[in-house]
Amino acid sequence: MPDLEIQRDVPLAPLTTLELGGLARFFVRAGDPETLLAALRWAREEGLRAAVLGGGSNLVVPDEGYPGLVIHMAIGDIDFRDGGTVEVGAGVPWEVVVDGAVTRGWAGLECLTGIPGSTGATPIQNVGAYGQEVAAVIERVLVVDRASLALGELAPDACEFGYRDSMFKRDPERYVVCSVHFALRPDGQGTVRYAELEKHVSQDATLGEIRNAVLDLRRKKSMVIDPDDPNRRSAGSFFLNPVVTSAEADRVAAFAVSEGLAPHVTAVPRYPTQGGEVKLAAGWLVEKSGIAKGTRRGAVGVSSNHALVIVHHGGGTTTELLAFADEVRSCVEDRFGVRLEREPRLLT
Ligand code: EPU
Repeated sequence: MPDLEIQRDVPLAPLTTLELGGLARFFVRAGDPETLLAALRWAREEGLRAAVLGGGSNLVVPDEGYPGLVIHMAIGDIDFRDGGTVEVGAGVPWEVVVDGAVTRGWAGLECLTGIPGSTGATPIQNVGAYGQEVAAVIERVLVVDRASLALGELAPDACEFGYRDSMFKRDPERYVVCSVHFALRPDGQGTVRYAELEKHVSQDATLGEIRNAVLDLRRKKSMVIDPDDPNRRSAGSFFLNPVVTSAEADRVAAFAVSEGLAPHVTAVPRYPTQGGEVKLAAGWLVEKSGIAKGTRRGAVGVSSNHALVIVHHGGGTTTELLAFADEVRSCVEDRFGVRLEREPRLLT
C-alpha cells in the first residue's frame, strides 16, 4: 500500500480559479489509482467524508473550508494511441489533451480549447463549448467505486450524459473518475457549428484555425485564464442556461419585446435542444434584468466581458460571492419568472 502523505489545514483558495474559500482539514495528493484507493480507505477508517479536487476551475469552496479529506487528483498519464484513441489520467490539464489532439490532426476537441481544469472533471459536467461536448467523443471512463473501493469501467451510456450533466454529477458520492478514454477522428473535419464561430471560420477550416478562432472568442469574454485580466478569478459560467418549454421561451421573448428589452422576438437568444425544449441564454437574461456587465458589489461582481460569469476581484469571501449570486438569481426571477441554477460545484 502506498504511503499516504496526509497534510492538515491546507488552504484551498490557491487551488481554485475563484481564489476563495477556507481550509481542507485533511489533504492528500493522489498521483495514481492506488493512492486514491488508499486515501478513500483512510477517510473511511477515520469516519471522514472525502471530496475530490481537480483543477479547481468549476468549484466554490465555502469560507468554513471542508471538514473531511480533500483528495487532490494528480493522475498524470496521457497516451495517444494509433487510430485516434487517447487515454488520459484524471489529473492531466485539459488543454494538454486538446493541444495533443489538434497537433496530431485528430478532430473532436478543437472547440473545447481554452477551458481551464483537469481531464477528470470533463465527464462530470459533460464539458461543452462552441458546438462540441466531451460526451460525443468519450469511449469509456475508468472509475473507482466509492462503496466497494474497486476499479471499474463505464461505457458512455452508463454515464447518462446531458447538457452540463451526467450520472457523476447527479450522484457525486458514487464514483471517482481516474481516467478518461476518448475516441477522436484522425484526419477528421473539425466542427464549425456554433453561430458565433461560423462568423469567424469557414466550414473547411483546419483544426488549428478552429482552435485559434475559439481561443480569440473566449479571450474576448475573459474565458481564457490570463494573469493580466481583471476578470480572471471566476468559475466560468456561474449559472446554467435555463432549459424551458418552447411555450415558456415564447412567453419570455414576448415579454422582453413588450418591455422594450428586444426589438423583436427573434432578437431574444434561444437554442433548440435535442429533447424538443429550448435553452435560453442566462447571460442575456442577467443583463436584461438590470445587472450590467461589470456590476460590482465590493470584492465580487459580474465580469465586465460576460454577464454569466461572476468574478472575485481579490480580498473577498465566498459568503459575499454567494450572496451576490443570489441577488442575480432574484433579479432574473423577478423580471422574467425564470429560475437560474448554479453551475459550479459547491464543496460541502
Ligand atoms: N449574452 C448576452 N450578454 C452576456 C453574455 C451573453 O446577452 O453578457 C448572449 C450572447 O449575445 C448570446 C448568448 O447570450 O446571444 C450566448 O452567449 P455565449 O455564446 O457567450 O454563450 P453562453 O451560453 O453564455 C455557454 C457555456 C459556456 C461556453 C459558451 C460557448 C453554459 C452555462 N455556458 O455560454 O461554457 O463557453 O456557451 O459555447 O452553457 C462554462 O460552462 O463555464 C462555460 C464557459
